[in-house]
Amino acid sequence: MIKYRWATLGCGVIANQLAQALQAQGSNLYSVANRTHDKAVAFAEKYGIEKVYEDIDEVFTDDNVDIIYISTPHNTHIKYLRKALAAGKHVLCEKSITLNSQELDEAIKLAEDNHVILAEAMTIYHMPIYKKLNEIIASDILGELKLLQMNFGSYKEYDMNNRFFNRNLAGGAMLDIGVYALSFVRWFLSEKPDQILSQVKYAPTGVDEQAGILLKNKKEEMATVILSLHAKQPKRGLIAFDKGYVELYEYPRGQEAVITYTKDGHTETIREGETNRALEYEVLDMEAAVAGEKDDMHLDYTRDVMDMMTQIRQEWGMRYPEEE
Ligand SMILES: NC(=O)c1ccc[n+]([C@@H]2O[C@H](COP(=O)([O-])OP(=O)(O)OC[C@H]3O[C@@H](n4cnc5c(N)ncnc54)[C@H](OP(=O)(O)O)[C@@H]3O)[C@@H](O)[C@H]2O)c1
Repeated sequence: MIKYRWATLGCGVIANQLAQALQAQGSNLYSVANRTHDKAVAFAEKYGIEKVYEDIDEVFTDDNVDIIYISTPHNTHIKYLRKALAAGKHVLCEKSITLNSQELDEAIKLAEDNHVILAEAMTIYHMPIYKKLNEIIASDILGELKLLQMNFGSYKEYDMNNRFFNRNLAGGAMLDIGVYALSFVRWFLSEKPDQILSQVKYAPTGVDEQAGILLKNKKEEMATVILSLHAKQPKRGLIAFDKGYVELYEYPRGQEAVITYTKDGHTETIREGETNRALEYEVLDMEAAVAGEKDDMHLDYTRDVMDMMTQIRQEWGMRYPEEE
């Protein structure tokens, strides 16, 4: 396989995981760009990275760079997507890929015009267990899909030094964790939901702290999603069919699912892939897409999910400063 030269734009928590994923495959990041130069230097030393830019903009004009990984806060993504895609770079951008559908449409058009791959770093689309479950579902052993139940709750302090509740850093449950729940829903539904109802509770900082969402598509497949950024919940996804149901644990990076068959109640445990290799699967799929071998990046699902999140926030009347 061709070796691609990856640059990271951002060197926080998740960029460390990407660096480690590349190293686990015997590769390495080629370069690092970051707002705070000192942190980029320390990151480069930690991982033995060849190149550190003085200024972020240098990454876009570096001819050696094939793929840029954007891992800065959500509201900064579009600014960097514009520059990276216009410069002809392939981009793997952290979730949520943009603030809203309007920004995403603009990025998709830029990627098309410049003949490059644009993808969201959504682990769900790359974990082997999801591909395995799709094979089982396609075999019809579980029958017809009826409904999905998906909860995601993590407890975060009301700390404005981090991005979670900070409106100026596009905080809130929807863009931070709702994107996972809705990507899970979209993966299994046979088509995009066309009916959506929701309720929201705001944090003292004005971002969505908690939400309940009810979805249905034209095939009458239904889903419920309950999100919270201030109450822990098990990360369990439930997919119910007329002949059985599937429970998938730690679903953003899941490796194990249990199927319960309705007829006699017997269970079957499915294991596929490894949680701690999540970013490796993502990197492999991205490189295969860039090489033109196969496109498993699911930008179509990313777009559907962004449309749902945009519609829901519009109904709440919740806007970020960039949207006012
Ligand atoms: N896929 C996953 O499993 C996963 C997990 C966690 C996060 N994420 C996503 O990854 C992204 C980053 O999250 P994180 O947890 O890694 O964040 P983090 O640790 O806070 O790191 C944020 C990075 O963005 C930079 N940054 C912050 N504000 C900026 C601004 N206004 N302009 C330019 N750069 C800025 C920071 O630079 P400085 O060094 O200058 O502060 C730092 O390099 C988010 O989109 C998040 O949703 C994904």
